[in-house]
Amino acid sequence: FLTHTTVTEDDVRGRAVVVIDVLRACSTINTALHNGARAVMPVLDMAQASKIAANLDPDVFRLGGERNAEKIEGYHLGNSPLEYTEDEVEGRDVILNTTNGTKALERAKTARHLVAGSFLNVSRTARFLNEQDRDVTIICAGHENRVSLEDTICAGALLYRLWDGTEPDHVSDAAHTAYSLFLYNRDHLDVTLRNTNHARRLTENGYADDVDYCYQIDHIPVLPYYTDNRLVMHEVS
Ligand code: MLT
Repeated sequence: FLTHTTVTEDDVRGRAVVVIDVLRACSTINTALHNGARAVMPVLDMAQASKIAANLDPDVFRLGGERNAEKIEGYHLGNSPLEYTEDEVEGRDVILNTTNGTKALERAKTARHLVAGSFLNVSRTARFLNEQDRDVTIICAGHENRVSLEDTICAGALLYRLWDGTEPDHVSDAAHTAYSLFLYNRDHLDVTLRNTNHARRLTENGYADDVDYCYQIDHIPVLPYYTDNRLVMHEVS
């Protein structure tokens, strides 16, 4: 379990990888696909976003993303999941450029399987990972190059489901930390999650509704699956 700045090629190659960014990139990706976007293309930076946009018909894509939580100038959408309505995204591709989440996805793209996880789809993500016959890497996107509590607790909630409520012997220190934090907070999850650094910052900037939305467990049980440089809805086989 890593953040987007510490992940290396060896951590992801050949493995089943989940990137978690609860606030807000992975919650936004989930929502966009649920509301009918054809695909979400995560990018590293402005240059990559502009290059992809230049090759697309302007009617069939939306350019979304944030810097310091605010919409990037000239983009159609910010990074609030609530902006990714059917009207905006149905039948379109979304190019998404965020500070941490989309970078983490880009850095993990050599994984055997790569999915985007959040509270909105945590049980769906666990089901998918349980079906894979390979080791799992969890990348918590974090915030401003630091660990973020909401991503860590979401990783713990995922492990709780993967392990069926019983921690196995000899897990990594990071996995033990995430699992323990989830167990410690599970009876007052709401209070803990509302007090995380990023949740408080978003609330102060007028995005309290995003925080409420992103903290709904299993609200959108769809799975964004990475293939061919884009995340698409994973179809149940
Ligand atoms: C990110 O990817 O850094 C986050 O989603 C930032 C945000 O809250 O918009």
